[in-house]
Amino acid sequence: MAGNRAIVFVEPGKVEVRDISYPDLILRDGPGVNPLNVGRKCEHGVIIKVITTNICGSDQHMVRGRTTAPSGLVLGHEITGEVIEVGRDVEFIKKGDLVSVPFNIACGRCRNCRERNTNVCSNVNPDRPGSAYGYVDMGGWVGGQSEYVMVPYADFQLLKFPDKERAMEKILDLTMLSDIFPTGYHGAVSAGVKPGSTVYVAGAGPVGLAAAHSAQLLGAAVVIVGDLNSERLAQARSFGCETVNLREHPNLGEQIDQILGVPEVDCAIDCVGFEAHGHGHAHGEAPATVLNSIMQVTRAGGRLGIPGLYVTGDPGAVDDDAKVGTLKIRFGLGWAKSHTFVTGQTPVMQYNRELMTAILSGKAQIAKAVNATLISIDQAPGAYTEFDRGASKKFVIDPHGSVRR
Ligand SMILES: NC(=O)c1ccc[n+]([C@@H]2O[C@H](COP(=O)([O-])OP(=O)(O)OC[C@H]3O[C@@H](n4cnc5c(N)ncnc54)[C@H](O)[C@@H]3O)[C@@H](O)[C@H]2O)c1
Ligand SMILES: [Zn+2]
Ligand SMILES: [Zn+2]
Repeated sequence: MAGNRAIVFVEPGKVEVRDISYPDLILRDGPGVNPLNVGRKCEHGVIIKVITTNICGSDQHMVRGRTTAPSGLVLGHEITGEVIEVGRDVEFIKKGDLVSVPFNIACGRCRNCRERNTNVCSNVNPDRPGSAYGYVDMGGWVGGQSEYVMVPYADFQLLKFPDKERAMEKILDLTMLSDIFPTGYHGAVSAGVKPGSTVYVAGAGPVGLAAAHSAQLLGAAVVIVGDLNSERLAQARSFGCETVNLREHPNLGEQIDQILGVPEVDCAIDCVGFEAHGHGHAHGEAPATVLNSIMQVTRAGGRLGIPGLYVTGDPGAVDDDAKVGTLKIRFGLGWAKSHTFVTGQTPVMQYNRELMTAILSGKAQIAKAVNATLISIDQAPGAYTEFDRGASKKFVIDPHGSVRR
């Protein structure tokens, strides 16, 4: 039987390439696997040979020790690959298909899936609605930063690329369909971006850059990206965004005023999440900063897209409230301005097919926007460190050396 190698979370600040077992169509016990999920049969699933699998800011929350992820957890929820084995109950997906795997795991049968809210499927995680591969408190589905991975509910979940050869030419773009492109796009759609909108995107990490590119695709007139990291802001400028360096200019409203002539935008998107840093030079972590500042700079009646992740447990939080996810949000301000908020995991399947077509037609340039950077599986631990330091790169692991360099 073939072996399998994967990126494993060891302890805060440390990931490692390890040998793990080759997957089969059952969820076996292992680090982070929910006891109620152990032994779950997945004849509706497939085995995927991973072609590309990306490192995400969501992984970093675990690797930085900001969650209760157990040592030994196999990481990776952004998976693109070739189907090499299909379960007895798979009817339409075939061996040889090249597919994008939505990072949410969804059964296709529950009320939420039927309503297209695959981000909160109620049948895949015994603890709460919603699940993902390789993630703490998500049921224990084995991560896909590996050579091979099992994907359940294949007929429902997998997005097949229509032409393998053409897809391989754009694989660095298509690999973003498993998470960050739909996530950025969902942020922009939730914020109500339309032709002529003015948009503020908090965060110039891969999700922020994907949201900024999505806002442009939706016709935004001006997209302003804020961060404290000048390299990442330069990346945002490289495809036509305006930027605000919040380390040098803590007053966001003033900066927006300088760009737009008014201190407000129509739409705002939080692409930072709970590890938000306060504005200015001296500031440390301030988990509610982004939520409060986007309420401040978004016009009355506006909408806030919040793909940035917020948690119910954070062992490394700045205070006791934040340790259980209770943040000091100025909710009265949002209420007074009649803001609409959209939070939560992205329902990837609501967007991935159209975004695939946008990529294949040349309309969307997502790999360029996020600076997709191809690496081998052995380079992944180093890439985690570099990404944590704020490199302006979206690392794409190519575990079998399948992608033409
Ligand atoms: N909702 C979803 O389904 C979903 C999917 C993917 C990622 N996410 C989340 O989206 C967030 C961003 O992901 P990423 O991969 O881009 O992460 P990242 O860590 O690479 O990027 C976050 C960026 O925010 C910046 N930042 C910190 N404080 C800030 C502030 N006050 N204002 C503006 N910028 C600030 C950081 O400097 C960094 O560049 C993470 O929380 C991630 O977990 C959510
Ligand atoms: Zn991700
Ligand atoms: Zn479901």
